Amino acid sequence: MIEVKGVTKVYAATGGLLGQKPVQALRGVSWQLGDGQALSLIGESGCGKTTLGRIIAGLETYTKGDVVFDGVALSTVAAADRRRFFRQVQLIQQDPYGALNPARPLGEALADPLRLTAKALGKDASWIRARSEELLHLVGLDPRNTLYKYPHNLSGGQRQRFVIARALTVEPKILVADEAVSMIDVSLRLGILSLLSDLRSRLSISIIFITHDVAAARYVAPDGHVCVIYRGEVVEYGPTDAVIAAPVHPYTQALLSAMPVLRGLEDAGPDRYIPQQDLDLRADDEGGCLFRARCRFATERCAVEHPPLVAIEGGSRQHACFYPEPRRVVAVPVQGIPS
Ligand SMILES: Nc1ncnc2c1ncn2[C@@H]1O[C@H](COP(=O)(O)OP(=O)(O)OP(=O)(O)O)[C@@H](O)[C@H]1O
Ligand SMILES: [Mg+2]
Repeated sequence: MIEVKGVTKVYAATGGLLGQKPVQALRGVSWQLGDGQALSLIGESGCGKTTLGRIIAGLETYTKGDVVFDGVALSTVAAADRRRFFRQVQLIQQDPYGALNPARPLGEALADPLRLTAKALGKDASWIRARSEELLHLVGLDPRNTLYKYPHNLSGGQRQRFVIARALTVEPKILVADEAVSMIDVSLRLGILSLLSDLRSRLSISIIFITHDVAAARYVAPDGHVCVIYRGEVVEYGPTDAVIAAPVHPYTQALLSAMPVLRGLEDAGPDRYIPQQDLDLRADDEGGCLFRARCRFATERCAVEHPPLVAIEGGSRQHACFYPEPRRVVAVPVQGIPS
């Protein structure tokens, strides 16, 4: 189980576009994810999704809070043991092109991490070969057509499958997929989403799925949870279908109503999301609700008091709004989302 406890990340002031103010990328984010479960982090560009994914994968430090794996808090792990600690988590990034060394044959790229395991287990080269083939089969690639090739010989979808196979070499417990299909041709996306879903059920891996696309989140894990992040803060959390069917926070409602309307499905009409103004990272952060300037329902209270995250529906859902009202604003009926 992985637990994120009040994780806060402040990037130091760098000057330039954002002025001299530090960037508050994450503000006390907390959630838990059980073994083999799935959680989608959704929210608009710049809300902190990648920062959180990188923190969980050990590629970024955090300012406050802690990340706990199976009861062991990262803050208590000695620097020398951190590498082993983070082998449990593998990050699949958006860009399968940049993730692979163009000059290295794919068989070698897969064998490199497997050699370490082989050494630890006292296995020989034939084990590495067999394991490589097994992993490629698992992600739907033909080993005979892959092992001797170079990254440029594969299509975008095949490359992402290969990157996933390479992530599996260390037998991770958690895969963090950060916009893992956004650079892939639309026609190949469903294949990668199905693969993630399939790996989760076959290998009992937990999946943290980072996306703008709620429909993709539901496709990967209809039984999972979503965590909606706005400017580094969790504003809504709950089972995916429950949140899609009746989002409580005005920001979630806005996000869902911005989903494209598919042929044959009704339009959200006047509820369609039209932001009141662009996301302004320099906006005053002090006190009040961070979403208030763009919220249709904001009152004076929202300007002076910060809405805390509160539990509803017997604790299965959470939201941070003074005026919670489940509204069906989604353009696509839940049963209309492909599954
Ligand atoms: N290395 C960095 N130095 C300074 N600021 C950073 C750095 N990395 C990210 N940020 C800032 O932190 C905030 C969160 O960035 P992050 O990349 O986590 O957003 P995101 O939700 O993944 O966005 P997107 O959907 O566009 O990928 C942004 O305001 C970003 O500008
Ligand atoms: Mg990102």
